[in-house]
Amino acid sequence: MSMQTYSSHKTSSRRRHLPVASTSIALAVALVGCWDAHYGLTAEGLVSWGVSLAAFALVACACVDRNRRIETELDCYFNGSLDLLATADMQGRFTRVNPAWERTLGYDAKTLCAKPFLEFVHPEDREATVAENAALAGGERDVRGFRNRYLAADGSYRWLEWSGHAQPEDGLIHAVARDVTALHDAEERLADHAELLEAEVAERTRELEGARTHTLHSLALAAEYRDDDTYEHTERVGRMAEEIGIRLGLAEQELALLRMAAPLHDVGKIGVPDRILLKPDKLSLEENEIMKTHTALGAKLLGGSGSPMLEMATVIAETHHERWDGEGYPNGIAGERIPLVGRIVAVADVFDALTHDRPYKRAWTVAEALAQIESESGSHFDPRVVEAFLATRPERGGARRDAAPSPAGAQASGNSQLAHVSAAA
Ligand SMILES: [Fe+2]
Repeated sequence: MSMQTYSSHKTSSRRRHLPVASTSIALAVALVGCWDAHYGLTAEGLVSWGVSLAAFALVACACVDRNRRIETELDCYFNGSLDLLATADMQGRFTRVNPAWERTLGYDAKTLCAKPFLEFVHPEDREATVAENAALAGGERDVRGFRNRYLAADGSYRWLEWSGHAQPEDGLIHAVARDVTALHDAEERLADHAELLEAEVAERTRELEGARTHTLHSLALAAEYRDDDTYEHTERVGRMAEEIGIRLGLAEQELALLRMAAPLHDVGKIGVPDRILLKPDKLSLEENEIMKTHTALGAKLLGGSGSPMLEMATVIAETHHERWDGEGYPNGIAGERIPLVGRIVAVADVFDALTHDRPYKRAWTVAEALAQIESESGSHFDPRVVEAFLATRPERGGARRDAAPSPAGAQASGNSQLAHVSAAA
């Protein structure tokens, strides 16, 4: 504190003590007069009264001085604060605002206190402001971090962030606000940027997944083309599996995944040698075992991507040769332990393989294939899936309607062909 300021402070302090001291002396004179009138004035009494009153005067002066110092300090903070300080009544009007309001919004205190503060609030923020103010005035809670927009004198809006406390006994609300317009704008830009980045990442992920799926489909087609020169088996199985899934009440999302995943069921055939895959005769025991490896190999090729579609394709590749009675492969699991998508593709795959030419057989008629599927309901196939499959009216479902009749003697060798289909479909 400079000498000038200190001297001024002392002078001011002395000036403030004068009324207190004068009051004390006047009180002392009056009391002494009263005492003298009633009890007579003695020297000891006079001294005692004098000391007491002097002490009282000193304490009173100290209290007044302290209060005034506090007031001065508060005024100093109030006027110099960069934050916007305000006192409002319970009717929604400011009763006192500090100069920071004028610096921030451009209105003087008189203008701000002349009308309800809600009139300065952005129309879109009024409902929330009323709710916050009601909670505050009702003593439910203090306000912390509430934001709204206030109209400035230049017509722009400034974002203010509030903290507030109510004193219902005085009918007043004390609030502090700060201008967070720059912060709010930065947060919005950041959120927009994050949203943009998220969309870009999602787009790149979709592209990557699409590229991977396309590659795997190409692989599946390459494998399929070796034993089906029409090259449509995988797509037909995908469509048929979806049709069965619809009858079984699968959710839209699952159906979409099934439609894309089912065509990949035989991708593992890429690892089966031509001499086995294209063999027109019955497979030997050893060849059959090699043929069966296409399930595990397919699961290995498809697995581990984290893509929901490829995860489903992995399950289908691994389980589409399992049987309801547990006599299938590669794991010999039975009943509902076989994933539903595997049970669905098992039916669609065998039906399509039966009704189309393969290197080791001619196509069966639709009626013959349907009879076969029905006859294996409960042994090879899940009865519920067979029922759903029959409900799709498969003769109209893309299978060859003009399928060539089975060659002479086909029924005699049907079991052999079926075994081959079961292993190779
Ligand atoms: Fe297969």
